[in-house]
Amino acid sequence: MQKVIGHNGFRAYVQAGKEEIVSTVYAVANQKGGVGKSTTVVNLGAYLGSRGKRVLCVDIDPQGNTTTGFGVKKKQLSACAYEVLVGKCSIQEAIVRTAFENVSLLPARNTLAGAELELSTMENRMNRLKMQLLTVKLDYDFILIDCPPALGLLTINGLTAADLLLIPMLAEFYALEGLSQLTNTIKVVRNNYNPNLDIGGILFVMFDPRLNVSKQVEQEVEKYFPGKTFHTKIPRNVRLSEAPSHGKPVMYYDKLSKGAEAYMQLGLEILGEKPPEKKRRLLSFGKKRERESE
Ligand SMILES: Nc1ncnc2c1ncn2[C@@H]1O[C@H](COP(=O)(O)OP(=O)(O)OP(=O)(O)O)[C@@H](O)[C@H]1O
Ligand SMILES: [Mg+2]
Repeated sequence: MQKVIGHNGFRAYVQAGKEEIVSTVYAVANQKGGVGKSTTVVNLGAYLGSRGKRVLCVDIDPQGNTTTGFGVKKKQLSACAYEVLVGKCSIQEAIVRTAFENVSLLPARNTLAGAELELSTMENRMNRLKMQLLTVKLDYDFILIDCPPALGLLTINGLTAADLLLIPMLAEFYALEGLSQLTNTIKVVRNNYNPNLDIGGILFVMFDPRLNVSKQVEQEVEKYFPGKTFHTKIPRNVRLSEAPSHGKPVMYYDKLSKGAEAYMQLGLEILGEKPPEKKRRLLSFGKKRERESE
């Protein structure tokens, strides 16, 4: 069996001329807080689902922002990622369907905060998520893991379970300091738990191309991770910050917003596709609208 890894993130296993696509697991991680990790998981997940891909979003942040972002009521849950990680239930029992096309969710509640301590004395504490995901991997095309803003056991579980790491980042000077820390963690994970972990891409969010600092940070990141920055940049967009309070991904809240367009572009980039003709017109319409409002 030959393993083929396309740069669009798909892994294809080719056997006797028959191509079978198996799921790609992305860990969305950055130990810095508030850099768009949860926003990316919710909106990229929703877009891929709307394109007919079977998506599982995995919330391993005790804040549970991805869970809220999909409108899943935490009080009504019988289990979440905590029970799965500490072995109180199977992942199948904890996964819920969201109201959005083709998107399932392993939710998180604040009980997950206790998992770090409980895991620390358990066997296989670094790959408990990986072992659970292996049992459902074939049911999905994309698995997107929302990691907490720390480099503790939960994030290490996310990185150990992943094929690719997606790093959302603000184009600001302090982001660069965090990068060397994250690079070290990637080395530790590769050397000890997951030699196959690859950088899927750096995603600039709340990006303003007009600022000098944006260009400087982009160039600096290029030195750390050559050729790994996503072509798509996510602009600052108020609709992206409003959508979670309605429990909806932005494409279901305001599909013509710049935020929805940007996450659609990211999805297309990951799928290795160009925007379809109609969508391209929509994008240029968005640009025209922007110019008009300047
Ligand atoms: N492109 C954007 N434009 C405007 N607001 C955004 C954008 N991306 C994210 N936000 C808002 O910024 C805040 C932080 O985003 P988000 O929660 O996705 O970051 P995070 O990295 O997951 O944070 P944490 O580290 O706390 O988990 C949220 O209020 C979110 O709605
Ligand atoms: Mg988050």
